[in-house]
Amino acid sequence: MCGIVGYVGHGKAKTVILEGLEKLEYRGYDSAGIAVIKDSEIIIEKKKGRLQNLENHLKDIDLDSDIGIGHTRWATHGEPSDKNSHPHYNRDKTIAVVHNGIIENYSLIKKDLKEKGYIFESDTDTEVVAHLLDFLYEGDLFDAVTKMLKVIRGSYALGIIHKDFPKELICTRKDSPLVIGIGNNENFIASDVPAILKHTKNVYFLEDGDIAKISADTIKIFDKTLTPVEREIKVIEWDYEQATKGGYPHFMIKEIFEQPKSIEETLNRRIKNSMPDFSDVLTEEEIKKIDMVHIVACGTAYHAGLQGQFALRKLAKTNSYVEIASEYRYMDPFVTENTLAIFVSQSGETLDTLAALKEAKARGAKTLAITNVVGSTISREADNTIYTMAGPEIAVASTKAYTTQVVMLQLLAIYLAEKKEVMTKTEVKEAINTLYSIPKKIEFTLNESDKIKPISEGLKDKVNGFYIGRGLDFNIALEGSLKMKEISYIHTEAFPAGELKHGSIALIEPGTPVVVIGMQSDLLEKTISNIKELKARGAYIISVGREDCLDLKNVSDSFIGIQDIDDIFSGLLSVIPLQLLSYYTSLSKGIDVDKPRNLAKSVTVE
Ligand code: M6R
Repeated sequence: MCGIVGYVGHGKAKTVILEGLEKLEYRGYDSAGIAVIKDSEIIIEKKKGRLQNLENHLKDIDLDSDIGIGHTRWATHGEPSDKNSHPHYNRDKTIAVVHNGIIENYSLIKKDLKEKGYIFESDTDTEVVAHLLDFLYEGDLFDAVTKMLKVIRGSYALGIIHKDFPKELICTRKDSPLVIGIGNNENFIASDVPAILKHTKNVYFLEDGDIAKISADTIKIFDKTLTPVEREIKVIEWDYEQATKGGYPHFMIKEIFEQPKSIEETLNRRIKNSMPDFSDVLTEEEIKKIDMVHIVACGTAYHAGLQGQFALRKLAKTNSYVEIASEYRYMDPFVTENTLAIFVSQSGETLDTLAALKEAKARGAKTLAITNVVGSTISREADNTIYTMAGPEIAVASTKAYTTQVVMLQLLAIYLAEKKEVMTKTEVKEAINTLYSIPKKIEFTLNESDKIKPISEGLKDKVNGFYIGRGLDFNIALEGSLKMKEISYIHTEAFPAGELKHGSIALIEPGTPVVVIGMQSDLLEKTISNIKELKARGAYIISVGREDCLDLKNVSDSFIGIQDIDDIFSGLLSVIPLQLLSYYTSLSKGIDVDKPRNLAKSVTVE
């Protein structure tokens, strides 16, 4: 969602901020703006729409400055417009504020400030922060910020500058991400690491309630009690190049092609002497106590959770259930001290997942995060964290984060299975070998990606479609359908193959596309019967199955063959053509693949 970049240093505020905002475009936004201090004045420029609009507008405006803050806004309070874009001024334009999050008590504060004579220019919740600071300011910006924090409620990452403090940037956060980048005679703030990776890999992740006072050569951090604190410097392992398109036309296709490598790195991180090792997050004693595993996540991460559940039940003979994070905390989840609650999130910032984690923790579960972002809020809130090794995922549509999450959950299931002695060491080693064979098998599909293009051409004018599968294949159908919806805007639904005939088959018309995943050997015959029912009603069948599976190929209008693999791990292969299918369909429809409409990469509101 919203993105913040701030800079204090020497002369290059505008460039650093605009380049940084570009790197945050993936988060989703509908307007952008910048504030700098120049010649003892604060200048704010902001524009509705893409960052490019702002950049075009700024072409002839001299904004050279040592200090500034920038923002990309994803509208919550007030429509996307110039006036609602951030930064926001106070009344005499001495203060500028950028904000990510929601000020929950903004209407009360606004009413109070209006009674005091403040005039509001925008419909946003954020503008109250600027006016409140104005009201509380008595010559010391830091002091005004600390007072302001006692009044506001909600979630926030804030960047604040004042014209009388042209060498000082103040930032603070609660329930919204914010990192401080440590430079050489220059420092940075950002919502996410890729925005500043070009300049530094050394960062502080602020804790909830922290406030920082930043100049070009000092960073002073105070906790919520205003006690000075030393936060640990984290060195980011990602390279700047990983956050660029590297010759690919879009981040999504780059990230699809990176999967063999990211899966291998994820495996390498957790396999020691050919055995999975999670002893740093789960001791044998803890494993013995676990009688239930909850897996909680949103969207694609939820779909990864479904595969995790399958592996936990099948391989580790462990009771497990998966829940959508936004539902979890409202359903009175049954949690005991023997519950292991796993929270899966690429960004580690998804508010629904974070709130569910807090709920499980409060109810006494042992909590474990699986995330891709070091230092993210969810990683810090959970009792323990396992990091996937996907590298930065920039495209809104999640691909490599999904497959690395699946691998991690499967490895974890194998680890539990071994510790519970429901798999022998030999079986474990065989499973590990199978997982290590996956990157090569994915490469096979990637090398054949051209064959998928003509199939997507046939899809581009469709309005509706279905994805079906049985057992684990149904989980893949869900993920394939979500990918297609979010980047091609074609309405698709995923069903267990046996379920369509219970109502939704009424929607099948001649030419309705149905994507079938047929990788579960023992269920294939039944899936083929379902295909026949659909074909009899005119459906156009696109199927994904083992390359030598003639039974499936012969009943399909288009067939995508993938390499042979054990049924239980097959989702890691069958999802690849589905990712490609949605990518090429989006491309043929001329959609902005990496930044589809209405979506944000990191969803930090409920
Ligand atoms: O960062 P998270 O993994 O917590 O994000 C969860 C979902 O918002 C995310 O997977 C979303 O569904 C993707 N856009 C799907 O491609």
